[in-house]
Amino acid sequence: MAAKLMHAVCYEAYGGGPSGLKHVEVPVPVAKNEEVLLKVEAASLNPVDWKMQKGVMRPILPRMFPYIPATDLAGQVVAVGSGVKNFKPGDKVVTYLSHVSGGGLAEFVVSKEKTTVIRPEEVSAAEGAGLPIAGITAYRALTYSAGVNLDGSGPQKNILITAASGGVGQYAVQLAKLGNTHVTATCGARNIELVKSLGADEVLDYKTTDGAALRSPSGKKYDAVIHCATGIPWSTFKPNLSVTGKVIDLTPGPNVWLTCAAQKFTFSKKQIVPLVVFPSGEDLAYLVNLVKEGKLKTVIDSKHPLSKAEDAWGKSMDGHATGKIIVEP
Ligand SMILES: NC(=O)c1ccc[n+]([C@@H]2O[C@H](COP(=O)([O-])OP(=O)(O)OC[C@H]3O[C@@H](n4cnc5c(N)ncnc54)[C@H](OP(=O)(O)O)[C@@H]3O)[C@@H](O)[C@H]2O)c1
Repeated sequence: MAAKLMHAVCYEAYGGGPSGLKHVEVPVPVAKNEEVLLKVEAASLNPVDWKMQKGVMRPILPRMFPYIPATDLAGQVVAVGSGVKNFKPGDKVVTYLSHVSGGGLAEFVVSKEKTTVIRPEEVSAAEGAGLPIAGITAYRALTYSAGVNLDGSGPQKNILITAASGGVGQYAVQLAKLGNTHVTATCGARNIELVKSLGADEVLDYKTTDGAALRSPSGKKYDAVIHCATGIPWSTFKPNLSVTGKVIDLTPGPNVWLTCAAQKFTFSKKQIVPLVVFPSGEDLAYLVNLVKEGKLKTVIDSKHPLSKAEDAWGKSMDGHATGKIIVEP
């Protein structure tokens, strides 16, 4: 019997940006051992999706073409593979796929049971789809790397969040304010009020002189910087850090790894720390629950139908999203 077909969006070679995306009909995948088959309700894009298309991880990722991009999504379980214990058809879920498989820009997708969590009715599909990479990265950077306790315990920390209007930054501001923190944030002028509404104590327009210098209006020295922007040199961070201040760099280039190694060698108290996050189901469940409790929200930049996925792709590549870009089949 012929396999049932679905609409998906893929690319067949490195490069090409939005016009490299192709609309195709492919077989609906089949859930294998410990996998669930989902009808996708919403997928979110992350910069890593188009960076992979550009070839930044060539030849490791993507390993094969054609490749269906996007890993973060929310959907409904339509079938379960053997050995699946925690899900049944009809369950609403949030999940993330591996970058090896990809598959999010499609009507159906197969995901691992261990990377899938139940989505309560208080959490919309778009809100859930925004969480995996962006939310977990913000969470790990703040807790594991910067030492902020989200139960509000511990001494107050001064935190700087750069690109606080972006996918990661908007979660980082909200999560930081669950802890005992004073948050300074940077963003463009048009997003200052939004970032304040997420809880930032002071906000700098990154295009002003003080913003470019990352100078806290109240004279704070930062104990940690959650650095979601790019292109800011160590020499700009250093004078703004407390004695043992750390910069958690989410887009570390070769210079950052070299500076980090040199700082370790010289026992520098101020440090730049490269961070690459691999999501976990446990962290995802924690964040979904925060959304359910009304303690965290997903700022949505825009929603695009799957039939116009290239518009969403182009918007992400422009680098001016306010929050998360969502694609809906
Ligand atoms: N290490 C990891 O595991 C990991 C995980 C997730 C993401 N990342 C990386 O982290 C970075 C941020 O990701 P994202 O999803 O948040 O990106 P994003 O949503 O595309 O960020 C866009 C936002 O950044 C703002 N922005 C750009 N340059 C800025 C600057 N110099 N100062 C202040 N704001 C600035 C833009 O504001 P305007 O429109 O006003 O310019 C826009 O609102 C990306 O490079 C991504 O690849 C790394």
